[in-house]
Amino acid sequence: MIKIYSPATIGNISVGFDTLGLAISPIDNSNFGDTIEIKKYKKFDIKNIGKFSKKLPKEFNKNIVWKCWKYFCKKIKKKISVLITLEKNMPIGSGLGSSACSISASLVAMNEFCKNPLSKIELLKLMGKLEGEISGNIHYDNVAPCFLGGLQIILNKKNIISQSIPFFKNWIWIVAWPGTKTSTLQARKILPKTYNLKTCIEHSRNLSGFIHSSYSTQQQLAIKFIKDLIAEPYRMKYIPKFLEIKKKIKKIGSIGFGISGSGPTVFSICNNMEIAKKISQWLEKNYLKNNKGFVKICKVNNKGTIIIR
Ligand code: HSE
Repeated sequence: MIKIYSPATIGNISVGFDTLGLAISPIDNSNFGDTIEIKKYKKFDIKNIGKFSKKLPKEFNKNIVWKCWKYFCKKIKKKISVLITLEKNMPIGSGLGSSACSISASLVAMNEFCKNPLSKIELLKLMGKLEGEISGNIHYDNVAPCFLGGLQIILNKKNIISQSIPFFKNWIWIVAWPGTKTSTLQARKILPKTYNLKTCIEHSRNLSGFIHSSYSTQQQLAIKFIKDLIAEPYRMKYIPKFLEIKKKIKKIGSIGFGISGSGPTVFSICNNMEIAKKISQWLEKNYLKNNKGFVKICKVNNKGTIIIR
């Protein structure tokens, strides 16, 4: 039996729509991702367990693990008879890369089980394809950091999909999921099909400025570029009081605030644990919509998807 763990991720990080993604782990070292267990079985079957398993589609062929199995078998030209247990710990449609967690853990588990017939790049491409089926477009900013860990820049070239880039080790990432759901497919549909030249230039400056600051370790400069001109202006309508919350969190001492992936999770960055705790408390009190919601204080997860047994 093989057991795999895949971590939660923050897609976009405001400044890099579909281009930047970060793997995260809570500072208390608690699990914050999905796990997959795989073992030989008389046929292919899936068992769903975990806190959010009841929210998974009931139909077998809508289960993402089934899709992973189908594509994996097609790729290796062999049907594998395995029992896969998905421990669904991540809320679905939360903006924390929940589907990426299940996809990455499933494909890595199947590949390990078969003694690694697929290369890393083949796996990553398959992950992107599966993610694309769920959200309407292939985007790697959740699957790449989930699989590879750290801060990833998505290049999407033939054999170079994603690369690790440096990140500020002292940054603390607070994520708050209100307990509600957003469909990435819908959240992508509401975005404009084209952007004007001014926005494109400004966006290029912000993203390249952020990458440059990361490589030249200029933290204060990097902070200036954490701005979202592509998605936030259109998606914030669906997050009640978004601008008020942003203002408040910045006032507490946050150095960056935005929508995690397509939301409704929001993230906040700070470089001081006292401030992180204050932000976390404020979000707990003011951002959660029900008792399922949570706030987590996180660090960067550098490992990505790992074998835990
Ligand atoms: N880049 C994707 C989007 C991430 O914002 O649509 C989805 O989690």
